[in-house]
Amino acid sequence: MNPRKTSRRLYSSMLMVMAGFVLYVLYANFIHDPQAGEFLSHKENPKRTVPVSAWLNVMYVHVIFACIAMVGGAMNFSNTVLQKYRRFHRANGYVYVASVMVVVLTSGYMAPYATGGKLTSVPFNLLNIIWPAITVIAILKIKKKQIHQHRQWMARSYAFCFTNLFIHLFAAVFHSGFGLAYKTSYVIGVYSAILSLFLLAEIVVRTVFREPPPQLGDVTAR
Ligand code: HEM
Repeated sequence: MNPRKTSRRLYSSMLMVMAGFVLYVLYANFIHDPQAGEFLSHKENPKRTVPVSAWLNVMYVHVIFACIAMVGGAMNFSNTVLQKYRRFHRANGYVYVASVMVVVLTSGYMAPYATGGKLTSVPFNLLNIIWPAITVIAILKIKKKQIHQHRQWMARSYAFCFTNLFIHLFAAVFHSGFGLAYKTSYVIGVYSAILSLFLLAEIVVRTVFREPPPQLGDVTAR
C-alpha cells in the first residue's frame, strides 16, 4: 500500500463527508427547520426553559461559524495549500481559530439548556475549554516553527468539528436502532462523540501524520 496514496484518499473522503455535512446542516437549520422545532421539542427541563428567540439567534451564529471552521480547517490540511499558498494558509488558519472561539462561546450559552441537563452540559463545557486549548497549542507550535507538531495538534483540533455529526450519528443508532428514549440516546451520543473523536484524532496523528509533511521538514523539532 502506498502511504501517500492512502493519505490522499482519506483526505478526499474526509472532504466529501465534511462538504455533505455542511450542506446538510445549512439546509436543516436555515431552510428545513429554521425554528429548530424538532430539536427543541425534546427539551423538557422545567428548571431551564429555553429562551427560544435568543437561543435560535445564538444557534444560527454557532452553525455559521461551525461551517466556516469545518470548510476552512479542511482546506488547510491540503499539501498544495501548505506549499503553494502559504499566505492563504496563514490567513485561513486565523479565520479557523476565530471561528473555533465563536463556536465555543455560543456553545457556552447553549450548554445550560442542553438536552439531557447537567449530564450533557458538563461534557459540553469541558469541550468548551479543551477545544480552544488544543487549538491554541497548535498555534504556539507554529510560532515555534514546529510544523510537524503544528499539523498534529491541528488534526486534534479539527476532529472536534465533527462533534455535531457524531452526536447525531450515535444518537440515531441508540434511538432508532436500539429503541432507547431520545434523551438517553442524545446523552450517550454526546459522550460517545467526544471520546471517539479524541481516539480518532490520536489514530490519525499516529498513522497518517506520523511523519513530517512532505518537502517541509521540521525546522526545530526532533
Ligand atoms: C463544528 C461543527 C459543529 C456544528 C456543525 C454544530 C452544529 C450545531 C447545531 C446545528 C446545533 C443545534 C442542535 C442540533 O441540531 O444539533 C448545535 C447545538 C449545540 N452545539 Fe454545536 N456544532 C458544532 C460543534 C460544536 C462543538 C465543538 C461544541 C462544544 C464545544 C458544540 C456545542 C453545542 C451545544 C452545547 C449545543 C446545544 C445542544 C443542546 O441544546 O442540546 N457544538 N450545534
